[in-house]
Amino acid sequence: MPTKQKKIGILTAGGDCPGLNAAIRGFGKAAIRQHGMELIGFNDGVRGLAENRHVPLDGRALSGILTVGGTILGTSRDKVDRMIVDGETRDMVPTIVQNYEKLGLDALVTLGGGGTARNAYKLSKAGLNVLHLPKTIDNDIVGTDDSFGFSTALEIATDAIDRLHSTAHSHHRIILAEIMGHRAGWLALGSGIAGGADIILLPEVPYHVDVIVKAVEQRRKEGLNFSVIAVAEGARNQTDSMAMSGAQALVNEASSPETKAAAKKAKRDLERSMRDNTLKLATQLEDATGLESRVTILGYVQRGGTPCAQDRLLATRLGTKGAELVDAGQFGIMVTAKGTETGTIPLKEVAGKVKYVPSDHPWVKAARAVGTSLGDA
Ligand code: F6P
Repeated sequence: MPTKQKKIGILTAGGDCPGLNAAIRGFGKAAIRQHGMELIGFNDGVRGLAENRHVPLDGRALSGILTVGGTILGTSRDKVDRMIVDGETRDMVPTIVQNYEKLGLDALVTLGGGGTARNAYKLSKAGLNVLHLPKTIDNDIVGTDDSFGFSTALEIATDAIDRLHSTAHSHHRIILAEIMGHRAGWLALGSGIAGGADIILLPEVPYHVDVIVKAVEQRRKEGLNFSVIAVAEGARNQTDSMAMSGAQALVNEASSPETKAAAKKAKRDLERSMRDNTLKLATQLEDATGLESRVTILGYVQRGGTPCAQDRLLATRLGTKGAELVDAGQFGIMVTAKGTETGTIPLKEVAGKVKYVPSDHPWVKAARAVGTSLGDA
């Protein structure tokens, strides 16, 4: 008896990044050509899954997308169990399970970061066969060395720091480059080191303004009357960092859903009030040093455009491995990159977790060794 052709759904969720299309292509081509599967793509992340919006992905649809930025499927930041539908927050897991069954899917492949891994885990617990591929420019997904998107963003941020150097030098200014990364400092640290930033500020290392001032003054004494500072968007001074830890503690200790919701809102508001941190820091440094200070917020250019070769390679490697694992019936897992090895980790161990920069990471040691200040005492 011929075996039934497997039907697989794929989606991209969370913030877009370069390499998503390369991963869709890698998974899709291997699934179709090597494993004889049928593939459909859901539009706009888990929202398309809940609303049953999908497109067929055949060999033709997968052709010519390797180098294209963003995601051909669209994306969203929805949560499967708390989706806003008609102005109300709803648990869409039962609807998603129904759609999956009605479509006759054998598996669902999700491409996303830690938040999407949490969605994937919830769907996996609801009985769906789910496999996750790690993407994010933040490189903050636990269990994998790398996620596609990171290398391209690293190149873009490094190039920006290089360019900021010549103008900071010419005008004898302090230039602060704000770099994405959410609550982790990988992107700022990596591009800061590669671009030779004089000071690098990370969320994991709360900074003291007076220490940064001293570092700038020290450079001046050495005849260098300009400084380039790579600031992770989540970097905080000591006081703000303690305030954030306090707000998080209130969330953790909340004893009822009502107090938890209130504590979460208070934390969000506090975080919002710190959005212009880099601008405030520039003013503080200008006042303290007398050097003109400017801010460049790199923003979404770090996420746009064509993936670099490294991300195309990683996306193709993880995507094709994903197709092999789906064919072997292995689910409830994320595909990982560990050195040159491609492995897996249970979704349970990834969902909602964040990979922060450890204080003894080789990059941290290397930055300190070449005399880069991290703004700590
Ligand atoms: O996770 C990727 C990322 O670009 C983070 O670096 C950044 O904090 C966040 O997304 C921005 O999110 P949004 O696209 O929702 O503005």
